[in-house]
Amino acid sequence: MLLHLSSWPEIEDYLTRSRGIVIPIGSTEQHGPTGLIGTDAICPEVIAKRASDEAGFLVGPTFNVGIAQHHLGFPGTMTLRPSTMIAALHDWVASLARHGFERIYFFNGHGGNVSTINAAFSEIYADRSLSADASNRGPVKCRLANWWDYAPVMDFCRAKYGSSHGSHATPSEVAVTWFAHPEAIKSREMSPKIAPTGRFTDAEDYRSKFPDGRIGSDPTLATAEDGGELIALSARRLIEDYGRFVAG
Ligand code: NI
Repeated sequence: MLLHLSSWPEIEDYLTRSRGIVIPIGSTEQHGPTGLIGTDAICPEVIAKRASDEAGFLVGPTFNVGIAQHHLGFPGTMTLRPSTMIAALHDWVASLARHGFERIYFFNGHGGNVSTINAAFSEIYADRSLSADASNRGPVKCRLANWWDYAPVMDFCRAKYGSSHGSHATPSEVAVTWFAHPEAIKSREMSPKIAPTGRFTDAEDYRSKFPDGRIGSDPTLATAEDGGELIALSARRLIEDYGRFVAG
């Protein structure tokens, strides 16, 4: 069940059955010479949709521009400042809480978002902690999970890609987008085959160290078939983890 394809009476009815919602959250940023700029938003969106089709929970709109300042050296990348993203997440959750949502599960596709999402959670919790009349609204609880962090997904990536997996423009995330969007598959020879690794600061620093955008990965290993398996593995764990979260 998708929020943006629902009507308000359907959401009102859903709230009599459940107080939980899953929000896919990602980024709009370069993913190497062949990876889609929407990769980090597409992955959690597609997996959440698959899980929702099976388990029936509500999936909200995808928060699809995140923390990508370090990718701005590549055309097409868009970013929020951390302070902007914290403010936006605060308002997203406050809107949902007004209607009675109390369990907000952020399903993330971008490692660079993690610290900012956690900071946003602290802002959200501070509303209640600092409020004199805290008891007039149910306590909102948020959870953050990365789609690739579930143990079976990590095991699959280790077995399939080993040291060629890397950390940006990885074959696993590229595989998921290829399964979801076969019409957008691109190919190009990678040089070097496995990209360099290292730390970075701003956009210029990033582009000078990682000239084609990848970090430590060989995305030519991706296949759409792998993408289908990764979606199924991650969706299964999302259903379990979300179920525990809303029940707890
Ligand atoms: Ni990514």
